Amino acid sequence: SVSANELKNKDRQQTLTIAHRGASGYAPENTMAAFEKSVDMKAEMFELDVQMSKDGELVVIHDTTVDRTTNGSGQVKDFTYEELRQLDAGSWFSEEFAGEKIPTLGEVLDAYKGRSGILIELKSPSLYPGIEQKVAAALVARNMHKPENDKIIVQSFDHESMKTFHSILPSMPVGVLLGYSEEGVSNEQLANFSSYAEYFNPNKAMITGDLVNRIHEFGMKTHPYTVRDQESANFLLSVGVDGIITDFPDYVDPHKG
Ligand code: G3P
Ligand code: CA
Repeated sequence: SVSANELKNKDRQQTLTIAHRGASGYAPENTMAAFEKSVDMKAEMFELDVQMSKDGELVVIHDTTVDRTTNGSGQVKDFTYEELRQLDAGSWFSEEFAGEKIPTLGEVLDAYKGRSGILIELKSPSLYPGIEQKVAAALVARNMHKPENDKIIVQSFDHESMKTFHSILPSMPVGVLLGYSEEGVSNEQLANFSSYAEYFNPNKAMITGDLVNRIHEFGMKTHPYTVRDQESANFLLSVGVDGIITDFPDYVDPHKG
């Protein structure tokens, strides 16, 4: 791992723009339209959420039910892929996007390999035994697990799942997500995360200049979430985070868009 000073100097890249669920401020989240918009807006990466259908297909959707973002109703895990595919994942956002489908992870990887970084969140992986192995296999099948593909990252709020993923595929960078807590995060926690993760990605409300420095001292980078206003983007840029997960890529860089 790299020392903090090395990271602070020339090795440190510019803050990456990471379009949250695709450019979800402008197109329906977790659809090909939102990922295409991310690339159009020149975001370096986009984020997506992966779950599993009843018949074991990796599908890209945020909620554990289809209710909010499709015209269907029920748990993702109770639908076959064929059934999920019938749902309209665009109309809820606007009629312009009627007919957008729930993508598979494979379809997104095939479409964006070499065209965009991808931050893959395993959403509620404890509902989907074996999902780590399946995501690892999807990446290996496409040769997207090599360290030189440095903008393909797997992350989760489920830290046990990330330890599992790291042990299956140690060449892939892993991220630890953390929800907001008033107590902040201790050096003991950071040391533990850094034993298997390259990224510590907390709620943006946790971020201070001091925390960014501590994350770097532990040899990790940070991509906090989720920016939906200009002021938050400016603050995160000022404290030197490594990437910003945002619904609006143009807030991170006005030249994007
Ligand atoms: O990438 C982090 C962020 O997506 C986590 O929150 O609820 O949008 O998946 P959520
Ligand atoms: Ca997410």
